Amino acid sequence: MPAFRFLVKLVTAATAISLLSTPLFSTATTFGPIISPQNPYTGQNGLATMHGDPASSDTTPFAGPGNATIDSNRRALQSACPTLLGTSDGYIFGLCTTMFGRTPTIHLFDAQEANSLAELAIAKGNILGGVYAYVDNQDKLVLTNGDNQLLRVGKSSTNGKWALAVTDSLPLTPIPASDSVVGLAPDWQGYVWFATANGLAGYADPVTKNVIVLPLNTTGGSIEEVANSISTSPVGTSISTTFATYLLARDDATNVIKVLWRQAYDRGPARKPGQLSWGTGSTPTFFGPKSGYEYVTIVDNASPLVNLLVYRTQDGSQVCKVPLFESNNSGSENSPIGSGRSIFVASTYGYPYPALPAGAPPSQPSSANFVGGIGRVDVLEDDTKGCIVKWVNNKIRSSAVPKLSLADKKIYTFVRQTPLFPDSTSTGILDNYYYTTIDSETGSIDSKQFVGTGFIFDTVQMAGLIDQGATLFQGTITGVVRVRKA
Ligand SMILES: *[C@@H]1O[C@H](CO)[C@@H](O)[C@H](O)[C@H]1NC(C)=O
Ligand SMILES: *[C@@H]1O[C@H](CO)[C@@H](O)[C@H](O)[C@H]1NC(C)=O
Ligand SMILES: *[C@@H]1O[C@H](CO)[C@@H](O)[C@H](O)[C@H]1NC(C)=O
Repeated sequence: MPAFRFLVKLVTAATAISLLSTPLFSTATTFGPIISPQNPYTGQNGLATMHGDPASSDTTPFAGPGNATIDSNRRALQSACPTLLGTSDGYIFGLCTTMFGRTPTIHLFDAQEANSLAELAIAKGNILGGVYAYVDNQDKLVLTNGDNQLLRVGKSSTNGKWALAVTDSLPLTPIPASDSVVGLAPDWQGYVWFATANGLAGYADPVTKNVIVLPLNTTGGSIEEVANSISTSPVGTSISTTFATYLLARDDATNVIKVLWRQAYDRGPARKPGQLSWGTGSTPTFFGPKSGYEYVTIVDNASPLVNLLVYRTQDGSQVCKVPLFESNNSGSENSPIGSGRSIFVASTYGYPYPALPAGAPPSQPSSANFVGGIGRVDVLEDDTKGCIVKWVNNKIRSSAVPKLSLADKKIYTFVRQTPLFPDSTSTGILDNYYYTTIDSETGSIDSKQFVGTGFIFDTVQMAGLIDQGATLFQGTITGVVRVRKA
């Protein structure tokens, strides 16, 4: 068994009481209850967005390959595939690009061997950041291209030969050519919400083709940037900028975008090593034990320790602010996992990205070792009492966005290790990558299996996909790795 740190703390905004030996509540043995509302305009939860669903829960209803012996296979594509999404009939869409935004290409993969069946290049235009997409309820891929067109791309096969084609295009005219969409997701009425790098929030009406935008915080002088994707729930759309988290909704009478609430967070003195922007690395995560969206959570960029922040969607009030990790590993570029009352956060502090987005400010310090770490925080049943840290394991060097299977209760990720020195926190181009499952109750690693060596296997904190057939697809810098039970 790997050594790991086991912490139980009661933490509210104001107090931190150690409760090491006291059982907190009888149902504390497992996360849940599991509530995952299905958006009628997206594909199935777990498959539809990079973070599983429009709530960005980073959960999947499907069981993963588990901890039995695995069989893995790498598909070389000379490009990173940060977005892997699944269709209802068992195909995989991959949105692949050379690191940070040059010539994005959509691939259609078969789910058995991850062979690319068809591909389609997307106009690059002025794309500065990544490309985001989701699968809609017709199994079409919805994305924006570099010319700020909202596209739907469908797959079809004739005599066994697959093709991808743009079936629909809607110009997002209010977005200046110098700006680009960094996240998009449909709301529960089918309006397609988006956020741009320079802090425009907006939605497109696919029926009237009207596009409505709202600049986030122009009155304060500083432009808030958006560096992560966005999330939707029946109560609104959540966007975290490099300064604050918002809950937005459409006013039915006037069509304008209303700010339901804004909560500024501590963005710290600078970008941290292992972060891609000077601000949160989180796509906001909706979660909750009653509706599945009574809370929204992000991790801030405070120094030396980041805080997990949980807000009530109803009014933006803060449920808890929980410092996470140690000064040598406190930072997260990943969207938290959220399910029931539980949140899981992985540290990416010090992760060595091969490239940074254009315009990323210098980090302080300029680099750091990659210690890793994953922690679990639960909102207490009486949420006025805040949250508890259930466990923190500072020995897991997760190199991908961890995903929680609601079927087998395991957390799935990849772990990066230096050959010969498995406890080293330094990184190199000959590091090993391991398929790893983690017990969501204890934070201990329950299995770890070698997948590959070297930078071609670098999973660069990208999100994997678990499909209907218990197969895990994971993007790497140079393609896709497919993992299934041997
Ligand atoms: C797999 O996980 C189960 C449940 O977490 C555990 O009981 C079992 O020992 C694990 N098996 C292996 C081979 O790690
Ligand atoms: C805009 O952002 C600045 C800096 O974070 C903040 O001080 C100000 O209160 C914000 N203004 C509004 C209207 O939200
Ligand atoms: C990180 O910092 C903590 C607290 O100072 C220390 O206990 C731990 O050994 C450090 N970890 C590494 C890998 O340096």
